Amino acid sequence: MIGVTYHSHACFTISTDNVKILTDPFITGNPLAKIKSEDLKPDVILVSHGHPDHVGDTVEIAKANNSLVIAPFELIVYLQRAGVNPEKCHPMHIGGSFQFEWGKVKLTPATHGSAYVTENETIYTGNPCGFLISLEGKNIYFAGDTGIFYDMKLLGEMYKIDLALLPIGDNFTMGIEDAVKACELLKAEVAIPMHYDTFDVIKKDPNDFVEMLEKTHSYTKGVVVNFEETYILQ
Ligand code: NI
Ligand code: MN
Repeated sequence: MIGVTYHSHACFTISTDNVKILTDPFITGNPLAKIKSEDLKPDVILVSHGHPDHVGDTVEIAKANNSLVIAPFELIVYLQRAGVNPEKCHPMHIGGSFQFEWGKVKLTPATHGSAYVTENETIYTGNPCGFLISLEGKNIYFAGDTGIFYDMKLLGEMYKIDLALLPIGDNFTMGIEDAVKACELLKAEVAIPMHYDTFDVIKKDPNDFVEMLEKTHSYTKGVVVNFEETYILQ
């Protein structure tokens, strides 16, 4: 059994009996976050790209929990310089996969940008990515920040996608219509929407995504997971 808890934006905890994986932990400064970063105790943190709404509290959480951090190489270099223990960093890159003790992770493409941008500086953090996470016989596709791209079809052909976590907020990523089309390409069994409502420009009703999937007789079932609620994948 796999639990998928949604903390808002692109931040999820994916947990099994063996591992607790946190994605893109944007908590501090996230107007939707209900949880405190101190309460997140992950074994593993996956970071998809260098934008501040995805790097978020990675450094603090990783240090506090001695978590393993997995990200594209250039982003890992940035995170090490920012204070993450180099021995707890696992750099990867797009197209590559690695079998960890607790499951397998593959980095997938994302059509987006990646740089850590603050008021004073812009630090290059490589290419953005998504993650295909294989655990307990299930494949979970975390798309990251991305527009729709046709290679999603390839992912759907090569892997049975049991669960897809897809952005629907539009403006910076796919919107609802494109996310519905992405489900068709991926042949995902279940899709949970993410990356909406955090900022004014990405205000969206996630129920519209679920309804559009139903109306188009999609193979995919849309599931809205409220903040701090858990979807059970079994
Ligand atoms: Ni982004
Ligand atoms: Mn984002």
